[in-house]
Amino acid sequence: MKKILELITDELKTAFAAGGYDAAYAKAVLSNRPDLCEYQCNGAMAAAKAYHKKPIEIAQAAVAELEGKPMFEEVKAVMPGFINIKIAKEFLAEYMNQMQEDACLGYEKAETPKTIIVDYGGANVAKPLHIGHLRSAIIGETVKRLARFVGHKAIGDVHLGDWGLQMGLIITELQERQPELPYFDPNFEGEYPKEAPFTIGELEEIYPAASAKSKVDETFRERAQEATLKLQSGYAPYRAIWKHIMHVSLADLKKNYSNLHVEFDLWKGESDAQPYIPDMIQDLVDKGLAYESEGALVVDIAEPSDTKELPPCIVRKSDGAALYATSDLATIVEREKDFAPDMYIYLADKRQDLHFTQVFRVAKKAGIVKPDADMRFLGFGTMNGKDGKPFKTREGGVMRLETLTRDITDAVYNRIMENRTIDEDEARQTAEIVGLSALKYGDLSNQAAKDYIFDMERFISFEGNTGPYILYTIVRIKSILAKYHSQKEQQTAVEDAKILPAAGDSEKALMLSLANFSEMIDNSFAELAPHKICQYIYELSNVTNKFYHETKIIGEEDKARQASYIQLISLTKNVLLQCIDILGFEAPERM
Ligand code: ARG
Repeated sequence: MKKILELITDELKTAFAAGGYDAAYAKAVLSNRPDLCEYQCNGAMAAAKAYHKKPIEIAQAAVAELEGKPMFEEVKAVMPGFINIKIAKEFLAEYMNQMQEDACLGYEKAETPKTIIVDYGGANVAKPLHIGHLRSAIIGETVKRLARFVGHKAIGDVHLGDWGLQMGLIITELQERQPELPYFDPNFEGEYPKEAPFTIGELEEIYPAASAKSKVDETFRERAQEATLKLQSGYAPYRAIWKHIMHVSLADLKKNYSNLHVEFDLWKGESDAQPYIPDMIQDLVDKGLAYESEGALVVDIAEPSDTKELPPCIVRKSDGAALYATSDLATIVEREKDFAPDMYIYLADKRQDLHFTQVFRVAKKAGIVKPDADMRFLGFGTMNGKDGKPFKTREGGVMRLETLTRDITDAVYNRIMENRTIDEDEARQTAEIVGLSALKYGDLSNQAAKDYIFDMERFISFEGNTGPYILYTIVRIKSILAKYHSQKEQQTAVEDAKILPAAGDSEKALMLSLANFSEMIDNSFAELAPHKICQYIYELSNVTNKFYHETKIIGEEDKARQASYIQLISLTKNVLLQCIDILGFEAPERM
């Protein structure tokens, strides 16, 4: 189904051509003066320069062609040369009916589906999942779901940090605490235990302790570095410990991500890329791209068009160790082999911008990816507390994700119980659903690159630009639909009922908002901007609620009119549900 802007543009093109002007100037956009019109065309201004005429003359010529067309209620040429458009109610209602009948709500899927790797999550194994990783998970999940809705094959990879110094730190600390373990006996020849020598709780305590120790105790740090190198070169006892660490951590990570409704297709990590490193480095050397500099191996990535000087990408340190960039490059080698993606989308803190610029440029220079591969870094800002500093616990520590979600759920639960319309069990379940919406929407409604302030009171509010407000709107529609359907005899009437031309302004405003759905999806995918979906459903919820307040739906006596209202709000519900599904949360039955 064509977008409404395309349909209007088609008419404008015919009109421009008929008036003797290039149709390329004809383009409909949403009105930026909703008080005057619904859509507008600014093409006469640009055409005026090319044809050496006054813009208003060109606009008037086009309007003369458009007048009387059934698509429009009103077309006007206004100074200096705008074409202001109001769409006909009959046309709009028909557009609604087509959206209603279409499984994708009128959205036309991409003609050539792309394979897209979405690299998000990025948790570091054995370190607790903290809110630093929350944004990556929330935004990445949405980007992945959006790409799928658009029609692409999106593959989500958690890309764990599972190969760094933290592993050596844990091994060394473990050796201090339990030297009797067989992993530390060089003469041990039997089979290593199947059970891990620690629980997740212990592991979470071991890592910070070891990390703190390494900062004050130099020999400890050196031992940890040695242990890391030994692990990386395949030393069997340490590999065995590493497997335990992975096993115990993964179970916990999976639980955490699943509570957030974040689902990965691939549970790969930096360790999976290691086998590809030697050949890749050799290739960089053979191609003359990598050269020695102060003992390290580096690749230049600067380009003449750069506005600031970009340092070369280090692919091997002087001690022979691989780096973050090396591992990301090797991961691309692996992904090319497994999926040959058309597009890569990476999510990480925006301070990693240089890192990804370096990685993308080396990947292209070295031909690891196709020269036209679309590689994007979606860098996000920090989640701050009300003091404007990175979010901390009351005690000043790093807030754990579990604690955060629990706090939100509790706050929502208390709010729901204030109204006391549902029992405690249902309130608990509802609080979880609503709490997740508060958390995710609070994050996603901000432009990703910006820092934002985590304001629990505001995020859980049922009013304003919040997740709970959107859910509240959906629940309200659900309850009207339930009421309508419970009046049995009407059920048959609504089955084939059509949406009728809007009876009033607020109904038309609702239809116009619904008609923008496809356009909004395309824009937010093109810009990888989930906040545009939030903006859209906030506006859609506002017009829905206005319509609801101004319209008697259940009390309407004209049954055809009533059935039309019912169809319209159920279309609205479907659009809202589709959008929140992309945003990664759900709506409860009641709240
Ligand atoms: N583990 C990294 C971190 O905690 C994020 C990984 C992002 N993805 C990537 N392919 N580098 O900062």
